[in-house]
Amino acid sequence: MGSIEAVVGALRGAGCVFAEEEAEVLAGSAGSAEELAAMLARRVAGVPLEHVVGWAEFRGLRIMVDEGVFVPRRRTELLVEQGVALAAPGAVIVDLCCGSAAVATALAVELPDAEVHAADVDPAAVRCARRNLEPRGGRVHAGDLDAALPPDLRGRVDLLFANAPYVPTAEVAFMPPEARDHEPLVALDGGADGLDLHRRIAALAPGWLRPGGLLLIETSRRQAPGTAAAMVAHGMGTALTSSAELDATVVIGVSAGASRPRRSST
Ligand SMILES: C[S@@+](CC[C@H](N)C(=O)[O-])C[C@H]1O[C@@H](n2cnc3c(N)ncnc32)[C@H](O)[C@@H]1O
Repeated sequence: MGSIEAVVGALRGAGCVFAEEEAEVLAGSAGSAEELAAMLARRVAGVPLEHVVGWAEFRGLRIMVDEGVFVPRRRTELLVEQGVALAAPGAVIVDLCCGSAAVATALAVELPDAEVHAADVDPAAVRCARRNLEPRGGRVHAGDLDAALPPDLRGRVDLLFANAPYVPTAEVAFMPPEARDHEPLVALDGGADGLDLHRRIAALAPGWLRPGGLLLIETSRRQAPGTAAAMVAHGMGTALTSSAELDATVVIGVSAGASRPRRSST
């Protein structure tokens, strides 16, 4: 592959909307012309850019993303933004359905005094999460939702995060091929209305949160009422936050109990 222009042209020909930016990422990641050509061929064949280069940018960090692991999306940065705003010093944080642990890793970096745990059911995600989070001082657990968590976290979690699968089963087939063909079904399929995991997480959260602790779940604008209803059904008060810039929606549930102080912004 001769020039960056040729890379841009090949990407454009393959329908990549951000061909210039992608060409720069590929060129910056390849160690040689041969490697660049091999990477380009995979990208042109439809492999997600992040799987080709092995990392995704998230909150200014390079998060390693192995093949077969969900690629963290920009919109999920809203969870981190909210967590940073709401965490008190020394907060105990859990990221359920962590995937690559992008959320947990960003929180561990931005809240260095926090105790950060992450968990996922998929062994590939757990391996990837460990490489991202453990060097930043967090711990990664393997298993189905909260069955993965150490029992001594019970009742002392300040902030419980989840970007769990929330695509309704019938809509998975209409997702872009990059997701459909390269991300595992367990990372996408949220059940008939997309809210199966949200209901399970809302049910388990009160057992792990301390009184006044917060549950933050990424959802869609359309599904937000259902996500909030799941929390209300388990005794939580709810609030909705969204970002037009990130095209993101997060429902926040407050577990019953004493109100908690906000982190002071100095
Ligand atoms: C949409 S992906 C999000 C990953 C990560 N939170 C992120 O934002 O990049 C959902 C993740 O949930 C995990 N998952 C699905 N069902 C699960 C379950 N029952 N217990 C734990 N993790 C689960 C999948 O393996 C996948 O990594």
